Amino acid sequence: MKLRRAAGLLRHLTISAFILLVLTGCENRQDMTGQTPESQASKVDTTGHQDWETIVEVLLHPRCLNCHQMEMPLIKQGSPHVPRVERGPDNMGLGTMRCSNCHSNQNNAVTGAPGAPGWAMAPIALNWSQKSSAQICQLLTTPQDNGGRSPAQLMQFMSENPLALWGWNPGGNREPVNIPHDKLVTALQGWVAAGTPCPPGTPPSQ
Ligand code: HEC
Ligand code: HEC
Repeated sequence: MKLRRAAGLLRHLTISAFILLVLTGCENRQDMTGQTPESQASKVDTTGHQDWETIVEVLLHPRCLNCHQMEMPLIKQGSPHVPRVERGPDNMGLGTMRCSNCHSNQNNAVTGAPGAPGWAMAPIALNWSQKSSAQICQLLTTPQDNGGRSPAQLMQFMSENPLALWGWNPGGNREPVNIPHDKLVTALQGWVAAGTPCPPGTPPSQ
């Protein structure tokens, strides 16, 4: 009887020791990487490349692209602007066809004309309508080509300027930019913090 109890106790102790061994083993593994497998899987990409993908998706959205054209703005998902209007020397229209004739500081539900303070075509230097992601990145990170704009200025414009913010409140039945604005701001911060990296294949800037 005594012997059986002693054997039972021993088995119990062996199992406990085994469990303890397994547990400390797990803990050691955790300590070595400093992370559990789950937190590794959800690790944030700090290279800035994923952030750029988010940013360029916004830049190429029709709400942004329609003003960032060569000579004429576009409407809706990229159709010609009717009536025909042109950039003109100050980006605000040609002759009597001034943007401000129809566009004001806010969307006009009666005429259907969208609006925001400073409504004008984007400068020619910021026409990225025919460019690839790599080329747009190159343009935005090269002040000699983009009209002397620094990454900090680009970030500020997209975070705060009413022309950019209009993209999330475009009026009528226009589709707003599909990326949430706060997600864009976070991506901009990550991209700038990572040193504004461009996608592979970007020619080196001179
Ligand atoms: C109504 C026309 C219009 C729309 C719509 C528009 N832009 Fe622009 N954008 C401009 C103009 C004009 C400028 C030049 C502003 C300046 O130099 O002060 C500009 C400048 C910029 C710049 C350079 C900012 C700087 O000076 O550093 C960026 C980046 C930009 N736009 C992004 C966007 C994004 C992103 C959207 C959409 C969410 C957008 N734009 C929508 C007209 C527009
Ligand atoms: C004669 C009036 C008139 C003038 C002048 C005019 N627009 Fe428009 N614009 C409109 C109207 C109306 C709409 C709405 C069209 C629609 O969505 O069906 C519009 C739409 C737009 C849009 C489309 C926005 C979007 O994403 O759908 C842009 C961009 C635009 N105008 C830029 C300009 C610029 C830049 C100028 C000056 C160079 C200008 N417009 C001059 C009347 C005008």
